[in-house]
Amino acid sequence: MVLFVERVGVVGAGTMGAQLAEVLALNGKQVVLKDVEERFVQGGMERIRSSLNQLLSFQQTKADRELEKFEEKTGVRFSPEQREAARKTLRPNFDEKRRDAALARIKPTTRDEDLKDVDLVVEAVVEKLDVKRDLFGKLDTQVNASAVFATNTSALPVSDIQEALSPRRRQKFLGLHFFNPIQTLPLVEVIAGRETSEETMEDCINVIAQLRNHRYPMAPVRVKETPGFLVNRVLGAMLHEAFRCYEERIAAPRDVDIAMKAGAGFPMGPLELADMVGLDVIYHAMVNTHERTKGQAPKPPAALEALVRAGHFGRKTGKGFFDYS
Ligand SMILES: NC(=O)c1ccc[n+]([C@@H]2O[C@H](COP(=O)([O-])OP(=O)(O)OC[C@H]3O[C@@H](n4cnc5c(N)ncnc54)[C@H](O)[C@@H]3O)[C@@H](O)[C@H]2O)c1
Repeated sequence: MVLFVERVGVVGAGTMGAQLAEVLALNGKQVVLKDVEERFVQGGMERIRSSLNQLLSFQQTKADRELEKFEEKTGVRFSPEQREAARKTLRPNFDEKRRDAALARIKPTTRDEDLKDVDLVVEAVVEKLDVKRDLFGKLDTQVNASAVFATNTSALPVSDIQEALSPRRRQKFLGLHFFNPIQTLPLVEVIAGRETSEETMEDCINVIAQLRNHRYPMAPVRVKETPGFLVNRVLGAMLHEAFRCYEERIAAPRDVDIAMKAGAGFPMGPLELADMVGLDVIYHAMVNTHERTKGQAPKPPAALEALVRAGHFGRKTGKGFFDYS
């Protein structure tokens, strides 16, 4: 039977859960957004409101931006009447009504019972195996038996989480790895655990392919269960080399970033990217991948370890490879 997804439960209203709830609601899905405490759920709702307002102001100034670009390029100047006519033609497809309708589709809650009728549950709680296993073990008995369960883990083995479920539900469990910020990054790595059925994989790929974020159609990609999955594996190797270039003083930190932007077409330099993601997060992911690959993936470089030990995690602490104070 083809999976029909109308109601989605998003568990964890933190960074990823709130973004996912927003994108799903914008696509017309009914969303139940659950966290353990009211203040976390409300925090998630506040971030969703603010993101939808940003989308609204981006859309509402779009016509003027287009006109200015055209004037700049061609030297043509529009009269106020022509501007007004163009504004009407280029009227945004997202307005207050749509924003409010999206918000109204999200039900914030702290109660597991509110998830019982959903068609799909996506978990985005803390990156701890025992927490995720406990959560899915509990939801297995509480949520409708036909619902598909997914984890948004970045680094934990999907199959290890899958084991917490009953044998029937294991077939309906998979990894759906979204990227931060979901509103503008459309990739979703779709990962089968040991017991995931092909039907579940196909269903979820189809469901995701029908979604759009603020800018693009979502892009599901099948990836084998492997440490770091695909993007973080490739990105991790690149960041590792950039950290070593920093450590060996191959170039000044700013120049490492300039080199990769100007010479390799990167939109951001590797060191500023690392400061944005969080050096603690990258450090722990590298340690984890080193251990899981039995040393095939390298240990984090000493320079990264020293920054993390000193409490310099990047933007969030005001200092990392660069100073943000
Ligand atoms: N932040 C990223 O860039 C990113 C990107 C891709 C994937 N991920 C993955 O997504 C998951 C969530 O990451 P995040 O950055 O959103 O974390 P976060 O810390 O911002 O949010 C996690 C939320 O989960 C809640 N939570 C904890 N236990 C819970 C439970 N039992 N039931 C309900 N809610 C619970 C917490 O209260 C918190 O609000 C992690 O597995 C992470 O690896 C994160």
